[in-house]
Amino acid sequence: MDSVSDYWNDRALLEWQVELGATDAILDAPVDRYALEVAPPKPKPAVVAKDAPPPIPAPVEVDAVSIARAAAAAAADLPSLATAVQAFEHCELKRGARSFVFADGQAAARVMIIGEAPGSEEDRAGKPFVGRAGQLLDRMFDAINLGRAHQDVTRSIYITNVMPWRPPSNRTPEPAEIAMMLPFLERHVGLADPDVIVLMGNTPCQALLGRTGITRMRGQWQEVLGKPCLPMFHPAYLLRNTAAKREAWADLLELNARLKL
Ligand code: URA
Repeated sequence: MDSVSDYWNDRALLEWQVELGATDAILDAPVDRYALEVAPPKPKPAVVAKDAPPPIPAPVEVDAVSIARAAAAAAADLPSLATAVQAFEHCELKRGARSFVFADGQAAARVMIIGEAPGSEEDRAGKPFVGRAGQLLDRMFDAINLGRAHQDVTRSIYITNVMPWRPPSNRTPEPAEIAMMLPFLERHVGLADPDVIVLMGNTPCQALLGRTGITRMRGQWQEVLGKPCLPMFHPAYLLRNTAAKREAWADLLELNARLKL
């Protein structure tokens, strides 16, 4: 065959193979394409505008609970604990609050009362329980001869909250906020070392006992951080539900009886 007829012959063969569905030209020897390394596509060089600002680094995740735990453990006494809580930067509530509210009353008291969080009056005054609910709290404890400024320290009370900053619109603190402030609260209890703890309402029950349901829990002694603790209705609840004052009075008598032991 001459070269012209070779050409037409080869072309006819090729067209026939294409008609049969061949898509690739095959080499003389077989190629195992599964064994071939696939080179990753080369990354395209980033196009950076001449005057572009430097890229913003990805935010670093912080473990606020661990940071709080370390800061709380390092506090050797109540003033250093107050300083450590005030310096804690990971709770967003701090940014919206006017004041840092740590505690009031006498740190050497036998009774430590734990509320939820400062309200607007407490935020203004920088002291816990000074608004209407706080005034009711003072009258309640006065009825069993206990008070923040009682001359007899054995009849005094010491008051704090789960949160040292007021939540916006007095909303309930969120679980993450409670979790990051809990190491400080636990250290607060350890350093104040009261004989008994009173938990005012659901938020301190959630923080320290891990559950809520104050209507069922109130008046029932529990143990927290190795200390007896008594959940009670929050005075703000008593202002709205005056009928519940009966149970609150029963709980105060129960507390008083415990202190006489
Ligand atoms: N309610 C609380 O739980 N704490 C306060 O300090 C005031 C109101």
